[in-house]
Amino acid sequence: MDINVLTIVGARPQFVKASVVSAILRQRCDEYLVHTGQHYDHNMSQLFFDEMKIPRPDLNLNIGSGPHGEQTAKMLIGLEKVMLDVRPDVVLIYGDTNSTLAGAIVAGKLNIPVAHVEAGLRSFNRRMPEEINRLLADRISDRLFCPTQTAVDHLQKEGITEGVYLTGDVMFDAALHFSCLAEEKGNVLQSLGLEANSYVLATCHRPQNTDDRQAFTQIIEAMIESKEEIVFPVHPRSIGFIQLYRLADSIERAKNIHLIDPVGYLEMIQLEKNAKKILTDSGGVQKEAYFFKVPCITMRRETEWIETVIDGWNILAGSDKDKIKQALNEFTPADVQRNHYGDGHASERIVDLLCNV
Ligand code: UD1
Ligand code: UDP
Repeated sequence: MDINVLTIVGARPQFVKASVVSAILRQRCDEYLVHTGQHYDHNMSQLFFDEMKIPRPDLNLNIGSGPHGEQTAKMLIGLEKVMLDVRPDVVLIYGDTNSTLAGAIVAGKLNIPVAHVEAGLRSFNRRMPEEINRLLADRISDRLFCPTQTAVDHLQKEGITEGVYLTGDVMFDAALHFSCLAEEKGNVLQSLGLEANSYVLATCHRPQNTDDRQAFTQIIEAMIESKEEIVFPVHPRSIGFIQLYRLADSIERAKNIHLIDPVGYLEMIQLEKNAKKILTDSGGVQKEAYFFKVPCITMRRETEWIETVIDGWNILAGSDKDKIKQALNEFTPADVQRNHYGDGHASERIVDLLCNV
């Protein structure tokens, strides 16, 4: 009898990760796909399902936005109902969002085995909601699919050694898989009037940057004062703060920052590949910068993807205006990179481990 996997996604990076795993999973097992509805704007959700041919969710809980407790609680209620109904053999969760945590808690309490893709990541900064989500999800998980050796080592230090697998990173699989498709897609550089290797690509959505007036102001001032041409697809969390902190006027006057709506994955990887530098606080974007050999400046004090820093392709600048500005103007990466993120077949390995029970 086929294994019945209930997969939970909800936020943009989870669509990217699930796109490659679900495609293979469905050749071997039955999958029931639940979208919590944590992200819901067309260009934060449906666009990814369309472009990346992610199977249509069997159920969308339409939870939407809200404070952590409220959002997670609504997810718990919705996910418990669906798990009791579907009675899966295993629940598959991705990453470190509130959707991840809710899935782990509900499955754990119903004694359904939990498999966690991107297990073992740690920032050692518990002020990040994601760190709490990761610690708890990993505690509850039965199978822990680690993207890096660093992640395996973190789990070992926490005493988690059973069911731990070094699979490689499914985001590397996705970057390889969709690269050709991205080339075939209309030329986003042309439509934005950009020359390859002449602009910086920026993203910023971490609460410690956006929800803090001083931090976000420093970040925007660093971008302006760097005088680099910067393309900035703005996450919906950040757009409100640009208005609230009255940063829109200075951005408009400076003329070097192009604020655009969030783009789909295929456009994003075109923008990443052709950027001369990437400025970000995103986990996924830091790695994609590394995959495409683009120097990265990370607007955080620590990173879960420490290999990119050790290798000399990523620099941690926090929200410090001078550090960001200097890195935008001067950071040059090391000559070589090592391969820390697998061989592009992490998804196959994960499906093997899920379906061969
Ligand atoms: C969430 C994840 C974060 C991940 C990010 C990926 C948690 C705690 N955080 O952060 O780990 O890096 O997704 O992008 O799970 N909003 C919209 N439309 C949308 C989605 C969000 O307008 O489609 C706005 C709402 O005002 C919402 C805010 O963005 O309150 C934040 O959304 P939320 O999902 O709570 O957190 P993210 O910052 O997106
Ligand atoms: N991404 C995208 N369009 C955008 C910004 C990001 O397709 O406008 C992709 C990006 O390439 C990566 C993923 O979304 O694959 C990362 O998501 P995000 O930065 O929202 O979350 P994080 O990785 O920090 O959790």
